[in-house]
Amino acid sequence: MSTQPKKRVGVLISGRGSNMLSLIEAAKAPDYPAEIVVVGSNRPDAQGLERAAAEGFATFALDHRLYGKDREAFEQDLHAKLTEHNVDLLVLAGFLRLLTPWFVNQWQGRMINIHPALLPSFPGLHTHERALKEGVRIHGATVHFVTAEMDVGPIISQGVVPVLDGDNPEDLAARVLAVEHQIYPKALEAVASGKAKTEGFRVKIEGSTPSKETFIY
Ligand code: GRF
Repeated sequence: MSTQPKKRVGVLISGRGSNMLSLIEAAKAPDYPAEIVVVGSNRPDAQGLERAAAEGFATFALDHRLYGKDREAFEQDLHAKLTEHNVDLLVLAGFLRLLTPWFVNQWQGRMINIHPALLPSFPGLHTHERALKEGVRIHGATVHFVTAEMDVGPIISQGVVPVLDGDNPEDLAARVLAVEHQIYPKALEAVASGKAKTEGFRVKIEGSTPSKETFIY
């Protein structure tokens, strides 16, 4: 078992929180290098907040609508909440707020996000609809470090799914979500253990032995 103290993780969500739950599950393993210390949301009614509280985690909600257009004031309060809980690593799991360069800078190299597409394809919203429209045959999800530009940043992990004949966006979303639940805990483990090292845009993960099989479809 590692002698390193576990990294203290804050998870930010805006909705149902299924990725958050996959991280909570993974972090139950005694040798997992991270512990979730707080779950926060910009939406007081986020279903995931209730789920986290039911699991016994500290939660908070900061309603962004109360801040009007003042993004920085919202982010300063958010930053203060995370600091209160001594958060080392910040995990965005369906957190639907654009972050200012100030906030990103505070968490540079310590904040990761999951995106439901194989970046750099399909950044932004409606990724599954767009993947179907473009006729791609493979699709998936990406975990990456957050940088000032949205959905750009060194890639830590990607998971791939086929796009099947007759798929609708919901089918594809469900297939991709299952992969998200696999890659996010692994990516957080790599970052929290210090095994993920960024060299330019490439993240090298010590000791990882990827399959060399070609995926053709
Ligand atoms: C996921 O598809 C994630 O990739 C995207 O938002 C969705 C969040 O789902 N960023 P959940 O709240 O984790 O269930």
